[in-house]
Amino acid sequence: MGELYRVRSCALPTVFVLNGPNLNLLGVREPAIYGRGTLADIEARCRSRGTTLGLAIDFRQTNHEGQLVDWIQEARLAAAGIVLNAGALTHTSVALLDALSATDLPVIEVHLSNIFRRERFRHHSYVSLAATGVICGLGARGYELALEAVAGLIGEVPAREER
Ligand code: DQA
Repeated sequence: MGELYRVRSCALPTVFVLNGPNLNLLGVREPAIYGRGTLADIEARCRSRGTTLGLAIDFRQTNHEGQLVDWIQEARLAAAGIVLNAGALTHTSVALLDALSATDLPVIEVHLSNIFRRERFRHHSYVSLAATGVICGLGARGYELALEAVAGLIGEVPAREER
């Protein structure tokens, strides 16, 4: 009974789902590219998928690069993994790359759109240089797939250390 209680009281691993600039405008922003779904819709899908995967979801959005750096640094101590859609900062931010490189966590980079079918400047990602994996072009479903990937990677620490 004591053992059972101890197992049940273990906290779930937390995944930070971080969203960068302009993603607060989903639903009204360029719907032909990003669809009509809102960021709140994506958050709800992440929470639902997190429940089935046994993950606690800490879902955040900011328009500010430094805030994302602070959250990634926070994740080093508080999270088991990171799902990151850095928006346009993906293509510009060495600061985000450095912050991600300082973590030893699984990092899944997500983009709603297929950045490789778009303008050339979107084809390069600083985030990818530190990401464990990248999912793009699958809309909101990409976030759920990223959570599935993190759930799998959390249990595979030796495999990651071999890289
Ligand atoms: C995006 C792709 C980026 O190029 C763009 O700047 C965004 C959104 C995506 O989710 O498809 O803001 O990250």
